[in-house]
Amino acid sequence: MADPAVLKTPDEMRSFSLMALREDKSLGFVPTMGALHAGHKALIERARKENDLVVVSIFVNPTQFGPGEDFEKYPRTFEADEKLCAQAGADAIFFPDKKAMYSENARTFVEVGGLQDVLCGMSRPGHFRGVATVVTKLFNLVRPTRAYFGRKDAQQLRIIQTMTRDLDLPVEVVPCEIVREPDGLAMSSRNKYLSPPQRKQALCLAHALAHCKKAVAGGERDAMKLIGEMAEIVEDESDGEIDYIAIVNAETLDDVAVIAGECLAAMAVKIGQTRLIDNVRLNG
Ligand code: PAF
Repeated sequence: MADPAVLKTPDEMRSFSLMALREDKSLGFVPTMGALHAGHKALIERARKENDLVVVSIFVNPTQFGPGEDFEKYPRTFEADEKLCAQAGADAIFFPDKKAMYSENARTFVEVGGLQDVLCGMSRPGHFRGVATVVTKLFNLVRPTRAYFGRKDAQQLRIIQTMTRDLDLPVEVVPCEIVREPDGLAMSSRNKYLSPPQRKQALCLAHALAHCKKAVAGGERDAMKLIGEMAEIVEDESDGEIDYIAIVNAETLDDVAVIAGECLAAMAVKIGQTRLIDNVRLNG
């Protein structure tokens, strides 16, 4: 288990990528904001299996946090992250600072019209513009063959797939399954914020979504009915504040009335001060 190289500047990152290119090596990339957990580890391990080289980026991207969000207090745990990257077999960690990533008068942004404004985009305006912009920049610096994204951030994944297609970015976006705790809670760096009672309440998301999936498997197709039932479960099991509960077409992210084809049941619920998201895929 060799320690991964830590690349702190865009120039160091570019040299690494150029070396990979010259040696005709495939490069798997896992972009993260750090505070790594088993979900990230699964992404890195998959990248390890499928590529000659693996790069993990750790960058808490300021442009995807809105005013009053948790940018300042977002967990920064570099030493533990470095260990996890080593265990999972990463070759390098790209760990730039804010100044290296954004010039003071940066004025170019990437927007994915429509997809960025629904679901999480409604209560986090500007969030996906920040994500799409930083991921484009990271793709340009890292020049990956494949990039690995978890399905927990389903809207983010859809936006990145669309942006990659629309801008002809030469990278294969690889979606990876959600990794859950044994009791069903989706892994998230923000789970660290939950107190023990809140941690219990947080299970309401997974419970509501599991109910929805089971009902659809049993033949239910009425989206409004299922949304109502999911809301009831969340309200019964927690005193969380529902941001949204939706059933949408998995490709367009448009609301559906009747579940047909590939759909997504998705929700965001605030437990205390912690906004949690989760989703399941439905096959109507
Ligand atoms: O999913 C995340 O951790 C972030 O949104 C990403 C993709 C690393 C961009 O900052």
